Amino acid sequence: MDVAILGFGFLGKNLVKYLTIRWDELKRIDPNFKVTAIANSKGYIYDSNGIDLFQLSETQDLTSYSKAPFCFEQAATLIEREFFDCVFELTPTNVKNGEPGLSHIRKSLSRGMNVITANKGPLVLAYNELVSLAKTSDCLLLFEATVAGAVPVFSLVRESLQGDKVIRIQGILNGTTNYILSRMYYEGVSFDIALREAQEKGLTERDFAYDIDGIDAACKVVILANAIMGRKAVLSDVKISGIRGINEEAISLAKKSGYAIKLIGEVEKDLRVSPRLVPLNHPLCVNGTLNSVQFICDIAGEITLVGHGSGKETVSALLNDLYTTLRAQAIKS
Ligand SMILES: NC(=O)c1ccc[n+]([C@@H]2O[C@H](COP(=O)([O-])OP(=O)(O)OC[C@H]3O[C@@H](n4cnc5c(N)ncnc54)[C@H](OP(=O)(O)O)[C@@H]3O)[C@@H](O)[C@H]2O)c1
Repeated sequence: MDVAILGFGFLGKNLVKYLTIRWDELKRIDPNFKVTAIANSKGYIYDSNGIDLFQLSETQDLTSYSKAPFCFEQAATLIEREFFDCVFELTPTNVKNGEPGLSHIRKSLSRGMNVITANKGPLVLAYNELVSLAKTSDCLLLFEATVAGAVPVFSLVRESLQGDKVIRIQGILNGTTNYILSRMYYEGVSFDIALREAQEKGLTERDFAYDIDGIDAACKVVILANAIMGRKAVLSDVKISGIRGINEEAISLAKKSGYAIKLIGEVEKDLRVSPRLVPLNHPLCVNGTLNSVQFICDIAGEITLVGHGSGKETVSALLNDLYTTLRAQAIKS
């Protein structure tokens, strides 16, 4: 399998690191496994014999990789010209027009290349189009990392709940707001201070409004609704209210009654993101940057998953999608 990685930022670099750690195992599954291209916003390195990920891991800089030249050309041109069995799309999320990820994914799928992505934008804007493109091209489009990071949401439903109907999904889908609300709850800090702390720790998106106004969580609600409940939802279908209005008084009132305030995303008849009172002993009630997702199923009842919604742990989701793709490829050939 020839692999391309589009986006060599936080996730791209951590993916390369964990590919070196799992290298022997990957080679056992597919002796021809190699990463032949890695791109950032300025260009890419390409080597049809495979990039030396061990060397690249040391410098983490595409331009100082010594075994292939850095080519100052857009990744979009690369995926038009070269063929890859699998493309990782790890460029920044853009929910306005999905670019550059949307074009990367469209081009890859239409050329018969499997796609694994952590990028919410293209899925929020064009889920149904991309899924039907993948079907027509007989390719996989896997996106475990887009919702709740390392928490195996889609693979759980795909593999382990095949006989169930998921009736409702609810969860803490944004780690930044959970961090802010947890700091306010346990340390008594104000919203402004907790937000500043989150920014200093690098937990917020470049535009923090995206987190605190509930837009990031709403994007995940749209992906869950479409991918798990078979809807045709768009972002404007989600009723969104964020956490700007939550003050110390609201937190302390909730505390007195044995509740915490959490920003909850819900997929039921309506799609919603809003601050809710959650009993302290409820399985969804997790703290810090953790995410939690609860499925209410017609046979299994309630199933709740808890884990890291972002950070290097997210590579777990990317690798799981890669192993799924490798196995599917092996069955095909
Ligand atoms: N970080 C997490 O924990 C996490 C978790 C779940 C999902 N995600 C999603 O995963 C994606 C990647 O996240 P990240 O944290 O790795 O982002 P990041 O650190 O900002 O890295 C983004 C990378 O994409 C590159 N890029 C931008 N435009 C490009 C283009 N036209 N062609 C090729 N590469 C391009 C950037 O290039 P330069 O290096 O030249 O700027 C950078 O290397 C995002 O969509 C994010 O929302 C992230």
